[in-house]
Amino acid sequence: MKHHNLIGIGLVILVIFGGALWAHNRSINELSKSNTAVSTQSNSIQSSKPVEFDKTQYSNDDPASIWTVVNKLRPLNPLSYAPTDLVTPTMPRRSSGSEMMVRKAAAEALETMSNDAKASGAQLMLASGFRSYTLQVSVYNNEVKAYGQATADRESARPGYSEHQTGLAMDLEPTSRQCELQDCFANTVEGKWLATNAYKYGFLMRYQAGKESITGYKQEPWHFRYIGEELANELHQKNISTLEEFFGLPAAANYR
Ligand code: DAL
Ligand code: ZN
Repeated sequence: MKHHNLIGIGLVILVIFGGALWAHNRSINELSKSNTAVSTQSNSIQSSKPVEFDKTQYSNDDPASIWTVVNKLRPLNPLSYAPTDLVTPTMPRRSSGSEMMVRKAAAEALETMSNDAKASGAQLMLASGFRSYTLQVSVYNNEVKAYGQATADRESARPGYSEHQTGLAMDLEPTSRQCELQDCFANTVEGKWLATNAYKYGFLMRYQAGKESITGYKQEPWHFRYIGEELANELHQKNISTLEEFFGLPAAANYR
């Protein structure tokens, strides 16, 4: 066979093979496009359904749960509970020692929050984080000595009944210590920033004005409780400010 005949046959084979390959690729492309269309459609159907918030994802009773609810009717169990993953957050702190520690998840959220706050001109400082049962004994006793038991019980939890003992609660203040643990903290740059933004980082201002008959405490615009972003967002969206109301738990104005 002559050389140019061989080249001709080769060219014909190439054209046929190339064409088949092109047709095959095209049909795969069309198929994946239509699959994308189907999945886009099913996604939009799914997202239009309201998704019910699952209130049972985490325990309200286990003191180690980020949704634990501690109040005058719900002491820590055991009363001497202490968390196992306490760390010291990297941010301004009022003092040193274990009171400047919080649980790891809360510390990470607190660090992000304090950095963002600083970028917006709010200088946050940690005033009190984890308090052991023993430390709460002296905090509460000092309050009773200074103001009497009735006043103390509106401001300070008895040992074994404080959220601070979970390692998930913290008192915040400006680095200047202006309005430290006072109602006027709500009017500081830091207090206002927290009131607007804390929920975005998973924190709840736990003791709000007008809720003493439910939470058992006067308003504390400086006391924040880490509950995770999902629950904090849900409470914000539903305009609910107490864990008791959200979870349908009894109001806890007084001890039993
Ligand atoms: N001040 C809050 C209620 C506490 O003592 O835990
Ligand atoms: Zn507090």
